[in-house]
Amino acid sequence: MASHEGKPIRVALLGCGTVGTEVVRLLTDQAADLTARVGAPVEVTGIAVRRPNKHRDVPAELLTTDAAALVASDDVDVVVEVIGGIEPARTLLLAALRAGKSVVTANKALLAEHSAELFEASDASGADLYFEAAVAGAIPLLRPLRESLAGDRITRVMGIVNGTTNFILSGMDSTGASYAETLEEATRLGYAEADPTADVDGFDAASKAAILASLAFHSRVTAADVHREGIAAVSAADIAAAKALGRTVKLLAICERVTTEGAEGISVRVHPAMIPTSHPLASVHGAFNAVFVEADAAGEMMFYGQGAGGAPTASAVLGDLVAVARNRVHRGRGPRESAYAALPVRPMGQTPTRYHISLDVADRAGVLSQVAAVFAEHDVSIAAVRQEGRVDDASLVIVTHAATDAALRSTVDKIGGLPVVREVVSVMRVEGEET
Ligand code: HSE
Repeated sequence: MASHEGKPIRVALLGCGTVGTEVVRLLTDQAADLTARVGAPVEVTGIAVRRPNKHRDVPAELLTTDAAALVASDDVDVVVEVIGGIEPARTLLLAALRAGKSVVTANKALLAEHSAELFEASDASGADLYFEAAVAGAIPLLRPLRESLAGDRITRVMGIVNGTTNFILSGMDSTGASYAETLEEATRLGYAEADPTADVDGFDAASKAAILASLAFHSRVTAADVHREGIAAVSAADIAAAKALGRTVKLLAICERVTTEGAEGISVRVHPAMIPTSHPLASVHGAFNAVFVEADAAGEMMFYGQGAGGAPTASAVLGDLVAVARNRVHRGRGPRESAYAALPVRPMGQTPTRYHISLDVADRAGVLSQVAAVFAEHDVSIAAVRQEGRVDDASLVIVTHAATDAALRSTVDKIGGLPVVREVVSVMRVEGEET
């Protein structure tokens, strides 16, 4: 890699939507400060877009439709990618890295599927690969995991990493409205995309969970390894049941060390869960993100802020851009892939979880013991039971101790089939409490 002492760092920008436009604006507005911080000017030499006529907020002479030629150009030292999706981003970034050009990307889907190949290309040429903006927007999270906590042993990363779903769940919690009504409102207000699938079905959060788990546990985790459940099945009854017990429902990305039959592994999952209203993540409302990290020596930490949007995401991109530019100027290098631990990802069925189960049952002698017997049969220990009698039936709420997810699911299936159970009103995992 050539030294750039004093010479401009030349940047190619791939994609110029909300985030890209903000990146160009910040680079222009803060040019003098950035030059001082980096030790050389940082200049955009080209912006690859699909439709040049659409982009009025950036200098027209920088626009091109030929992204491959821009990446290959001798006038480019760093490639910033904010296109999103797998292709053509993957091919373009591999070409950049192989040519020794540093890469800054906000592309969670790409990192969650192809990080091994990207890191390999980065290692081969010595070019940097930074991706802070891929998870939780503006919140500095990946650098703390990759660098600040590199000397510690992280045991859990648990967070709200999708603003759209958090906005919807917060809305359901405050109004008591259904999922469908709240989604409609979120779409109308522009908080949910016209096609909300990636967010509400948990794909976006699963990609982020894969990236977080890979970094936290020094292992390769891809999106396919992540157990994923979205929020479409969360009902107003679930929210009410949580409230009645001093809990709230959040879509959580959970990455944690688990021990199965003495062997260490990791659990990586995205699903709705009830957490106590006293938990720090419970007070994260609307479109905000927050991630709770636990490490042996550091203890508990919480990272909170804006997880999406043009300027917040551009802030993370700019931070990475300054880092890779400094590395080029001072002949340094950012962290490489750290996957030496190679911990296996445990299937969801083997993961210890806790369940909250709310049932409508017949109110007569022996009902509770029949229900309790099913828990005992599956070796699931009950932590708390609450029963409220009504006219001719009763509401029965059970919270379990930790058991394998498979045992809990079998328990719920069997309970649902008991003649004394009129309805399984709500079933949800419980997180953020002692087991
Ligand atoms: N769609 C994401 C969210 C932001 O709702 O949080 C980008 O990852």
